[in-house]
Amino acid sequence: MKLCDPALFRQECYINGRWISSRKTIVVTDPSDGAVLGSVPALGRDETEQAVRGAGEAFPLWSRLTAKKRSLVLKRWHALICENENDLAYIMTCEQGKPLSEAVSEIQSAAAYIEWFAEEAKRVYGDTIPMSQEGKRIIVLKEPVGVCAAITPWNFPSAMIARKTAPALAAGCTVIVKPSELTPFSAMALAELADRAGFPPGVFNVVTGPAEEIGSVLTGSVDVRKLSFSGSTAVGRLLMRDCSDSLKRISLELGGHAPFIVFEDADIDAAVADAVASKFRNSGQTCVCANRFIIHDSVYTEFVEKFVQAVEQQLSVGPGRISDHNQGPLIDMDAVEKIEDQIRDALSKGARIATGGSRIPGKGYFFEPTVLLNVLPTMKILREETFGPVAPVSSFTTESEAVAMANDSEYGLAAYFYSRDVARAWRVTELLEYGMVGVNTARLSSEAAPFGGMKKSGLGREGSKYGMDEYLEIKYMCIGRVS
Ligand code: SIN
Repeated sequence: MKLCDPALFRQECYINGRWISSRKTIVVTDPSDGAVLGSVPALGRDETEQAVRGAGEAFPLWSRLTAKKRSLVLKRWHALICENENDLAYIMTCEQGKPLSEAVSEIQSAAAYIEWFAEEAKRVYGDTIPMSQEGKRIIVLKEPVGVCAAITPWNFPSAMIARKTAPALAAGCTVIVKPSELTPFSAMALAELADRAGFPPGVFNVVTGPAEEIGSVLTGSVDVRKLSFSGSTAVGRLLMRDCSDSLKRISLELGGHAPFIVFEDADIDAAVADAVASKFRNSGQTCVCANRFIIHDSVYTEFVEKFVQAVEQQLSVGPGRISDHNQGPLIDMDAVEKIEDQIRDALSKGARIATGGSRIPGKGYFFEPTVLLNVLPTMKILREETFGPVAPVSSFTTESEAVAMANDSEYGLAAYFYSRDVARAWRVTELLEYGMVGVNTARLSSEAAPFGGMKKSGLGREGSKYGMDEYLEIKYMCIGRVS
């Protein structure tokens, strides 16, 4: 791998301040051509328990440092990530496939989370509460929850690690990261920079290996007091069940099936531009991608014509390392087969392809950006998360019909709508059963905003001042006999 700083490409795990290798390894390949990039250790129960012990031993020291000292280490980590932005993005594109420009923007987002929480570290305020009994005073203290585990996905190999670990570390917790085995090198590069930033041994750890074996230690251990996971609803449900014996705190950022409504009074050109940017970001592989296009009858033809034209003219599919391409490969063959199945199902029930529709032959998991018309609620594509570059379009007549179509999903992560009517903006936002609503925008993620969902999209919030709360215990102190 061609890097300015080759030491960022680590093929070992990072436990207790030391780099650990293993005879058993997992091979990592480039989804754009199948080339082997390298391998990482296939660690198991023993090494994960070792990481939990190390994180537990590091906790008293790290949690008792002043917030300012923790903040300084986080700021050094932030600065190193910014300095090495291009190498980190290159590593990500090689293992994940997204275009380099998107990888750079993800690294900037990861850095922004770290910077934000480095600042929040110093603002973990408690409360005093007026007491209802004579001679007593109530004080509320906030304390770090303890050792935290973060199980992170392949679609955002760096930003999800930053979004979970930065608030934990800022609060005074120690962390064990289990990255996806498909994209571990981004995690290792962040660990290398965490080491250079000066986190004490055991504060930040990364383990790779079989998900079930490592996951069972992290969920079962009574010493791990919090688990944060981003990934599928099916796996989130299993993790929640497995955490029940040790009764740990849990944050789950799970699937989404974001509706994208265009009302008759919308700015259609803005809606089309955002529809393309949101649907095809990371080739459709984000849980907040616009996934179901719900367009008012009176602007349906205009929207569809402009949307199809933009997809055909603006999107270029190919290896993300080549700057001409803004659509990389899907992560693996399962992802390709899943969207093929959804398209087949939709066509068999009356949908029509306006553009795209097929995998691209040759090396790599490439798929044509696709627009499907005449889509009905009985089709799989409107029920299952898509996670690929396919845009299903339907129409509606009344506002309440659009809201009902949007809410007709087990997911409740992100929703978007376009309208120039301020009253409608409030009304529809309040009616949508979603944790995040974009009004005249389809780009919601920000370190300053609370990211998270309702219904089967998960529990808890990441980013913003609310993101800190997930890593803090509330302790109430009552002082009596104050005379
Ligand atoms: C995701 O979690 O899939 C989206 C993350 C983001 O938009 O930053």
